[in-house]
Formats: sequence, structure tokens, C-alpha cells
Amino acid sequence: MSKKITDKVTWVGKVDWELKGFHGHEYSTDKGSSYNSYLIRDKKTVLIDTVWQPYDKEFVARLKQEINLDEIDYIIANHGEIDHSGALPELMREIPNTPIYCTKNGAKILKGHYHQDWNFVTVKTGDTLDIGESKLVFVEAPMLHWPDSMFTYMTGENILFSNDAFGQHYATESLYNDVVDQSELFVEATKYYANILTPFSALVIKKIEEVLSFNLPVDLICTSHGVIWKDNPTQIIHQYLKWADNYQENQITIIYDTMWNSTRKMAEAIAKGIMEADPNVTIKLCNSAIEDKNDLITEIFKSKAILLGSPTVNGGYLYSIGGLLEMAKGLKFKNKKAAAFGSYGWGGEVVKQLSEKLTECGFSVVNEGHRSLWVPDEQELDNCVEYGKQFVEATR
Ligand code: FEO
Repeated sequence: MSKKITDKVTWVGKVDWELKGFHGHEYSTDKGSSYNSYLIRDKKTVLIDTVWQPYDKEFVARLKQEINLDEIDYIIANHGEIDHSGALPELMREIPNTPIYCTKNGAKILKGHYHQDWNFVTVKTGDTLDIGESKLVFVEAPMLHWPDSMFTYMTGENILFSNDAFGQHYATESLYNDVVDQSELFVEATKYYANILTPFSALVIKKIEEVLSFNLPVDLICTSHGVIWKDNPTQIIHQYLKWADNYQENQITIIYDTMWNSTRKMAEAIAKGIMEADPNVTIKLCNSAIEDKNDLITEIFKSKAILLGSPTVNGGYLYSIGGLLEMAKGLKFKNKKAAAFGSYGWGGEVVKQLSEKLTECGFSVVNEGHRSLWVPDEQELDNCVEYGKQFVEATR
């Protein structure tokens, strides 16, 4: 089903309510997602992006109901990742000579994915395409989040087609930001930024400042995932500037894994100490073995400090903590404090290992951490409470 956005622009994408995992299983999509594609009808007809490959036939069939495919003059591929380019092979079988506008890297990536010598027209920032009353203006956005990423701005309608930027993995039939559940929308937008864009924050700020310097009016931000930002559309741009600026809330998150609950008991006692030392701080306890990994990353993103706990097992830490640390390393969090804790029976080297790994991941480790031998008794739990208080002082 297509949805008219303006007299000239129609949404022709796919809402994927069933999607539970994205990037394979790297990103949990509890609320589904959408692959937004847009058809522009001016004097020329333009298709911006397509949809993920499993929906290629459905996409092309629905597009045929909307328009005679031979009437499409240009295709814009803002980004070559398969969730946006996946229906190109099916489409290009029907209209093989239609020019595909993309960046130089975009052409390389599309060739690398589909091994087809389509009619690529490569564009750079500032290049324009006359389509009648409106013009399309291209803005390269390399590494936001792939080397080929770009935005396309449509004059007259004042629409920024931002592709992945400003998106959310959020299925909605309502299409616009002001008619969906606001708390769900911002939870998903935050998770999306935390898990995908965090490592590129410096580039996010630079690119947004560049786009703002053009002084282009923006009436709509048409993303490629989730809602179209229509009500106060630039709110998400300003939110991105906040998120990109070493974002943190007054939150301390304690993430632990546990075998026989000793490390969990430590975590709870440390939380008690934190609360006693600073009743105003938001404290969250998360067992990394049972919580969603992307939600944990989002909690780290929101935190000013984290505590990471694991028992010592076979001379190392539990695998859920190891996996999370590997994700955190890639995301390059900045301006966050941390420390480690954990129970042990012998050896007990994990707290030192975790402290070193946290440093390697870019966290500022504030102390040597805290260990408890076997199952903590009342006295040792009091020590953990005291450690929580000390952690608050060290993170002020
Ligand atoms: Fe939505 Fe980078 O693909």
C-alpha cells in the first residue's frame, strides 16, 4: 500500500512488523522496522531507495500498481546496504537502463553486492538534479554510517531524505512522528543512535553543522527506517547533536553476570551503597545473561558511569560480559567512568581483567574494583555497600 506524503511525493516502502533481528542477529528489533522508499513525481519521476531483498517482488509489484515502471527516470540510491538496495536486482530486470544516482562509494558497494554493471551516475556534495519544479541536491555523508551514505534534499517540498540518519527500527502504519506512541518512538530512536551511530558521533556533529549551514528550510525529514519527522522535524537533528556530544544522563548502571548469585548479591549491595550516597542518581541493575544486549548498550549510552561484574570462571569472565565488552569496544563510548567487581573462590583475577578491558574500551576506570570470596556474608555485603558509596564519590 502506498501513502501520499505531498502532492509530489508518495511513500512506497515496506513496513516489517515481524522483524525481530537486524544485521543478522546483531540488533534486536522488538518493535519491527520499515524500509522506506519514496516515489517523486515532478516533470521527472524519481525513486529514492528500495526495500530489503525478501520483499523485492512485493515491492516491485506494488510499485507497478502505482506507476508504469518505464516512467521512472532516475533512481537515487542514498545507501547501498541491503535493507535499502535489496530490491534493485528485481527492479532493474524491468528497467535495466535507468540511471542510478549514488556516491562513488555507493557504485562500488552496489557492484560489490549485486555484480551488475548498472547505469551508475556518481554524485558529490552540492551536485543537483533538475526534476521539474523541484531540484534534488545531494549531500555526501560518509561513515554515517557506511562510506557511501548520502542525503538527498528536495527543493520546493523542503524534504530531507536522510536514509539511515534520524531513523528508528520501529514499525508503524501511521508514518508520522506525531501520531505514534512518543515514549516508544524515543526509546527506539535512542537505541538506534546508541547501537549504530555512537562511534561516528564526531562525524554526526560535523555533518549536521554542515547541513545547517546551508540554511535550507526543512518541512519533512523522510528517513529510511521508522517515522517521517513532520511535527517539529528538526527536533531529531537537535537531539542528535545532544546524543553526539558525549551524551550521558545522571544514571549509574550495574551490569553483571552470575553463576550462583554471589555476584548478583554484590551488585545489589553496591546499588544500595550508591543509593545511600546519591539518592538522586538513577540506578539500574542488569543481568547481562538475560537482558537484551542492545538494550544494555543503550543503558551504557545513557549512563555517566557503569559497574561491570562477573565471577571468575576458568580464569576469565563469563561470556555475556565478554560479548558486551566487545560491542562496547567497537562503539567507542567517551566520557564514561567505570569499575569492576566480582565473586571468586580461587584465582579471582577477573576484576583486574575487567578493569583492563574497560580501559581498553575507552572507559575511565576510577578504582581497582571490588572482589568477594565465595558467597558474601553480612559483613562482606556491608563492604559492598561501602564500595558503592566510594564509587559514587569517585564518579562525582
Ligand atoms: Fe538501513 Fe545502513 O542500512
